[in-house]
Amino acid sequence: MKDFIGDKSVGKEIVDVVFEAAQGAVKATKEFGEDAVVNGAFGTYFKEDKSFLTFDTVYRIFDRVPDFQKAKYASSIAGPPEYQEAVKDWLFKSAGLDINADVIATPGGTGALSSTIKNALNRGETVIHPDIGWGPYKTIAKEMQNPVAYYKLFEDEHFNVESFKETCTQVMKNQGKVLAFINDPCQNPTGYTMRDSEWDEVLTFINELSDQGPFILLLDVAYIDFNKRGDDYKQLFEKLSKMSDNVLSVIAFSVSKTMTAYGMRVGAQVLVSNNEQGRRRFFHACGNTARGVWSTVNNGGMMAFANLALNEENKQAYLQEKNGFVKLLQERAEIMIHEAKEVGLPLYPYHEGFFITIKIDDHVIKNELHLKLKKHNIFFVNVYGGLRVAICSIPKAKITGLAAKIKEVLDTIDPSDDDLESVQDANDNNDVDNDEKNVTP
Ligand SMILES: Cc1ncc(COP(=O)(O)O)c(C=O)c1O
Repeated sequence: MKDFIGDKSVGKEIVDVVFEAAQGAVKATKEFGEDAVVNGAFGTYFKEDKSFLTFDTVYRIFDRVPDFQKAKYASSIAGPPEYQEAVKDWLFKSAGLDINADVIATPGGTGALSSTIKNALNRGETVIHPDIGWGPYKTIAKEMQNPVAYYKLFEDEHFNVESFKETCTQVMKNQGKVLAFINDPCQNPTGYTMRDSEWDEVLTFINELSDQGPFILLLDVAYIDFNKRGDDYKQLFEKLSKMSDNVLSVIAFSVSKTMTAYGMRVGAQVLVSNNEQGRRRFFHACGNTARGVWSTVNNGGMMAFANLALNEENKQAYLQEKNGFVKLLQERAEIMIHEAKEVGLPLYPYHEGFFITIKIDDHVIKNELHLKLKKHNIFFVNVYGGLRVAICSIPKAKITGLAAKIKEVLDTIDPSDDDLESVQDANDNNDVDNDEKNVTP
């Protein structure tokens, strides 16, 4: 008997660990009151007074976008010219760079990620992700019917360049082409930012490997505006523009965090390559995806971003407001990291950004800790290799003492307890190992 869904949609039930964990926190808050709950599940920024952060400097600009601009379709599938210029200005010109790039507006960073997989790979070809990464990466690959191969994100306290090289080499050998994701700076979920020396090693390797076939680097910069180096970080893009002809870099840009405008659904694919013909072909393919999947992107949001990026006064006011919140993240992180060290709670190396991840290699212990913390009204997101603590959503007063509390709960878990094996955590996102076994080719 035929089903309502086609064969290619079988097995697509979605369990979004972030939304599930967030719902648990909301329910507990209703039942026990806000003071009794630590909500470290939301990936959106909350202020110290627990209210949702909306940048004033952004929303007053948005107010001034004329109604007809908010109502109309964008003037181009790739985004209005002002928006395309604004994205290039933000990423390149503001850092003194003059880079030849194509910009295609997408619904958030997510649209940029999915369109890149769709247009870079054939169905069934493998995409490369970090083992510890943003959960929806896997959902997007599944949607596009592309299996995933994982590189290990860390070796001790640093980016695992060797694992990245091995995974890419293997995939290149199997399919003659590589699409690899790197999420930098402020990696989700760990808060790691790669060092310049790590980037240099990675880029040299990519250049070498591209002798064997096309290499598409997807650089997900969703949190770029929360890195501590600011525009200085963007010098990396100059290096991307000098790669060999068989390399295409797709910078996945998202306005969601930059403008605290998550629901506005504005982002972009920014294509950088010396191979101008190849880059243009990719641009046209992505344009067709845009027209055929979502049509145009939210025009009011794009115009607001253009008015922010291209007007010096608006931009300076925004930077001043935003920098205060970059600093606040650092203050929250310092409390967590310092206290975790004091009580012996292991964390992955954190540099900056919205999230810190507690390191728990043992899958069963991690699930048990996640469940037990929920019983204490402490909500985190269960990720591969640990529990993600969204310091973007927890005020300093609640972060203080949190590491000790987590450690106390962790210490009550007896690894030799046979009952632990039966722990089923609905929010378990630990299937990277299984995926690896199922990876084709
Ligand atoms: C690492 C990472 N990449 C991309 C995105 C995409 O964000 P959006 O589609 O909301 O712009 C997010 C959002 O949480 C993210 O954390």
